[in-house]
Amino acid sequence: MCGIVGYVGARDATPIILGGLKRLEYRGYDSAGVAVVNGNQIEVRRDAGKLSQLVDLVSKSPLKGAPGIGHTRWATHGAPSVKNAHPHLGNSGRVVVVHNGIVENFLELREELTSEGVTFNSDTDTETIVHLAEHHMAGGLSLEEAARRTFNQIDGANVVVLISADEPDKIVTARIGNAGGVVIGLGEGENFIASDIPAILDHTRKVIFLESRQMAVVTKDSVRIETIDGGEVKPEIHTISYDAVSAEKGEYRHFMQKEIHEQVRALTDTLAGRVDFQEGRIRLPELKLTPELAKRIQRIYITACGTAAYAGMVGKYLIEKIARIPVEVVIASEFRYSDPIVDENTVVLAISQSGETADTLAAMEEGRRKGAIIWSIVNAVGSQAMRVSDGSISMQTGPEIGVASTKAFTAPLVDQYMLAILLADMRGTLDETNRRELVADLRLIPDLAGRVLDREPEVEKIAHELKDIKGCLYLGRGINMPIAYEGALKLKEISYIHAEGYPAGEMKHGPIALIDEEMPVLCLAPQDPWHEKMISQIQQAKARGGMVIAVATEGDELVAGMADHVMWIPKTPWMLSPIITVFPLQMLAYHIAATRGLDVDQPRNLAKSVTVE
Ligand code: G6P
Repeated sequence: MCGIVGYVGARDATPIILGGLKRLEYRGYDSAGVAVVNGNQIEVRRDAGKLSQLVDLVSKSPLKGAPGIGHTRWATHGAPSVKNAHPHLGNSGRVVVVHNGIVENFLELREELTSEGVTFNSDTDTETIVHLAEHHMAGGLSLEEAARRTFNQIDGANVVVLISADEPDKIVTARIGNAGGVVIGLGEGENFIASDIPAILDHTRKVIFLESRQMAVVTKDSVRIETIDGGEVKPEIHTISYDAVSAEKGEYRHFMQKEIHEQVRALTDTLAGRVDFQEGRIRLPELKLTPELAKRIQRIYITACGTAAYAGMVGKYLIEKIARIPVEVVIASEFRYSDPIVDENTVVLAISQSGETADTLAAMEEGRRKGAIIWSIVNAVGSQAMRVSDGSISMQTGPEIGVASTKAFTAPLVDQYMLAILLADMRGTLDETNRRELVADLRLIPDLAGRVLDREPEVEKIAHELKDIKGCLYLGRGINMPIAYEGALKLKEISYIHAEGYPAGEMKHGPIALIDEEMPVLCLAPQDPWHEKMISQIQQAKARGGMVIAVATEGDELVAGMADHVMWIPKTPWMLSPIITVFPLQMLAYHIAATRGLDVDQPRNLAKSVTVE
C-alpha cells in the first residue's frame, strides 16, 4: 500500500525523497506529497494523482531543507484528493506525518480531538495521528515521547513517520503490526527511511528493518531503536546485495514487459547453487530441512494471495505428486477464518513476492499460534515474511515493480518443484533414477523460457486481434488449471477486460452457456497428461461457435487444425509445463493492455503490496 520515504542529513531532502518515491510508486498512486523542515518552518507540497503531478508541482514551487518525509498513497479512508494526500500537518503547522495502515479507532480519536477544539482538514484516519502528537508536544513532551504516546493510542496495523519544526534534527518512525515494512538506510552523516529497499538503494546498502511495535529516532548521525513501550532493542544491520539498476525500465516500454523478459535470468538464478546436477540433488539450506523434520510432516498448507496463491496451486500438484504429502492451498485472507487443522507436524508455507502482504502475514501468525512449522517463499529480501519463518526459500528474481506479477510467479513454481524433490528425497520416497530425472529436467528451464519468449511477436499479433474483446474464458486442466486462473487474472488486472479462469472439465456445468462468437476461449493444451481431455474441450467450444486461442506444444497438428489462434511453446516435461505455458498468457495480457493504451505498470485501483487486511 502507500509508499513512504524520509531523509535526514545535510542535503536537500526533496530530490532524495522524490527519487525514492518513484521506486515506491507501485505501492500506491492515488496522490503524493512531500514535507520538509525549512529553517524554522515546515513546508508541504501535495497533489492528487500520480507522482509526476507532485514532481511538476515541486518544480514550479521548489522546496528547500531537511529533514523531509514523502508519501505516495493508496486510498483507504478518504477519497484520492489533495486534501486527503499525505503529509498531514497539525493545526500548529509544527508537526507533520505520513502514514501507511489503518488507525482503527480513528472515529473515537477524532471525536475526542474535535471536542478539544482540533480542526480536521481531511477525511483520513491519518490526521488523528498528527493531532495527537501535536497535543502531547503542546503539553511539554519531546517529539519522541509525544510520538511514543501516540503510537500507544492508535489501534490497528500502522507505519508512522513524524517530523517537527521544533526538533528539526530528527525523524521519528514506528511500525505497529503488519502494515508494511520500515527500512532504515544508514549513510555517512545522513540516514534514510523507506517502506522498501529499492527507494534507498541509490544511497546505501546498509539497512535495519523495524519489527512490529518498534520505533526509531533517526538523526543524521544516529539511529536509536526501542520498542514503543520503551524496551531496549539491539538492531541487526543487513547489507543488501542487489542494486538499484535492476529497478529501472531500461529499453522496455513498461516494467511488466521488462520483467517478463527477465524471467530467463530469474529462473537461471533460481537454480544457481541449489541444483547439483552431478549428484542429482537439491540443496535449499535456508529452509533448514532435515530428514527427521521431512519425515515428520503430515500435511502442508500453502497460503498466499493473488498471483502467489495460483503459484501455490501448482505447488500442490508438484508436492503431492513428487513427495506424496497432502497439500491444501488456502487463500491467506481465509486461512484464519477456516479454523485450519494445524499441529506441530503441519507446515504452513506462505508464498509472497513482497513478504509484506497483511493477510499472508496474518495467516503465518495463525499457523505459528497453532504450533505449525512456518516456511516461506519470498522475493523481498529481509521482509517480514522471511524474518518470521522457521525456514525460507528466497526467490532470486530481483525487485519486481510492475503491479501485475510475472517473474515472482514463475520463480516459486521452480522453488516448489525443488522443494518437492528435496522432501521426497529426505523422506526416502523417491528412487534414485526418478530423482535424477526430475533434477536433470530443471536444466532445460532457462532455454525453454528463452524460446517461448522469442515468440513474443506472434503473441503480439494475436493480442492486436483480440484487443477489443469484451471477455475471455481461460480453461486449463490438471497442473495447468492454475495457469488458466493466472492468465485470466493477468488480463483483467491490466486490461480491465473481464476474464474467468475455469477448470476445463467444469465448463459443461455452466460456463459453456457463455460461449458464442463474442466470447473467446483460451485453452491451455500443452503435451501433458490432460492433453486429450483438452482436445475434447476445444471441440466443445468450437461446436458452440466460440473462438479458440490455444497454448500448445510445437508440432501439435491436432490443436493447430482446430484452434483459431495458437500460441506455441517448446516441448517441455509436463511437471515443468506451467512455468512455460504462463509466458504466452503474460505476453498476451501485456500486449492487449499496451495496445489499448492502458497504464500497464500502474493499473487502476490496484497496488503491488497490500498491507491492509
Ligand atoms: C497484490 C498484487 C498481486 C499479488 C498479491 C500478493 O494484489 O497486485 O500482484 O499477487 O498482492 O502479493 P505478494 O506480495 O504477497 O505476493
